[in-house]
Amino acid sequence: SDAELDARIRAAKETLGDRAVILGHFYQRDEVVQYADFVGDSFQLANAALTKPDAEAIIFCGVHFMAETADILSSEGQAVILPNLAAGCSMADMADEDSVEECWEQLEELFGSAPDSEGRAPVIPVTYMNSSAALKAFCGRNGGIVCTSSNAKTVLEWAFERGQRVLFFPDQHLGRNTAKALGVPLEQMPMWNPRKELGGNDEQTLQDSRVILWHGFCSVHKRFNVGQIEKARADFPGVNVIVHPECPMEVVDAADGAGSTDFIKKAIAAATEPTTFAIGTEINMVNRLAAENPQHTIFCLDPVICPCSTMYRIHPGYLAWVLEELVEGRVVNRITVDDSVKDNAKIALERMLAARP
Ligand code: 13P
Ligand code: SF4
Repeated sequence: SDAELDARIRAAKETLGDRAVILGHFYQRDEVVQYADFVGDSFQLANAALTKPDAEAIIFCGVHFMAETADILSSEGQAVILPNLAAGCSMADMADEDSVEECWEQLEELFGSAPDSEGRAPVIPVTYMNSSAALKAFCGRNGGIVCTSSNAKTVLEWAFERGQRVLFFPDQHLGRNTAKALGVPLEQMPMWNPRKELGGNDEQTLQDSRVILWHGFCSVHKRFNVGQIEKARADFPGVNVIVHPECPMEVVDAADGAGSTDFIKKAIAAATEPTTFAIGTEINMVNRLAAENPQHTIFCLDPVICPCSTMYRIHPGYLAWVLEELVEGRVVNRITVDDSVKDNAKIALERMLAARP
């Protein structure tokens, strides 16, 4: 029962004390978030993994790419545990290493690898945090960098200083929304399409590009649309619409604000008068914000309840299990990034951490 699970988790946590730290992403359900020592967006959670070097284990209540990142950044010998190994991310799966390598080769064939007169490389690869460690390593060894939704602008500026153009993966929407906010015209943001004979990118389009977008997207955020915003504005005049930048461009353009999960949380915290907020992000987070801020009216733009199904795979039962195993001295569901990948991935992550949001 829920009460039994609660007692088991609390007892194991108490026995472990400082030996284990539990991190939770904002999209986790309340039944899990209540046990987290730290809750945050993906950037904050990457930083949190750095700040507990003495804990034996980091229990990551989030998804696979976040746990991999924690393993890359955590100290030697620390174990990162993902309570359910099936908690992946469909967007991260949309860019695999082989396809990105193939794209890179084709771009190299077209542009060569020599810098221009200002020392800028032909292309800088930028990967969204929501990607495999292998792709972060790819960026590390090719002069590239990682970004999250909270520092994407800073990171793109970093990349534009060093490169004539950017290859951005896996999320087309974050790439497009961020580049647009920096003034890059849409016609300079082609979507990568290798199949030239089937109407793929022609050379001139790629020559003229500033950001080459990958075709990935988040299945949760692509559900938001402009009609929902129009309806919210009609039903609640004066409503404040805030969305996540993984939403399509038209949605971000029609909203009053867009930013990471932490940005959304802070935008609500900054409202001094009772306000109506329509939020375009994952439902567990929106419901929690509504419960924590009863002075405001807060609802999700999408009337159909749609959680991130992979985040939802972290059930309190798995949390109880991994904690109890740890009490017995056994590490289960450990996420380890191979050393051959780790070093280069760390380079790309450290570039991001140095280019503060
Ligand atoms: P942030 O927490 O960085 O806003 O990212 C949202 C997300 O989709 C995580 O998977
Ligand atoms: Fe991946 Fe979207 Fe879920 Fe985030 S919300 S973990 S991007 S599927």
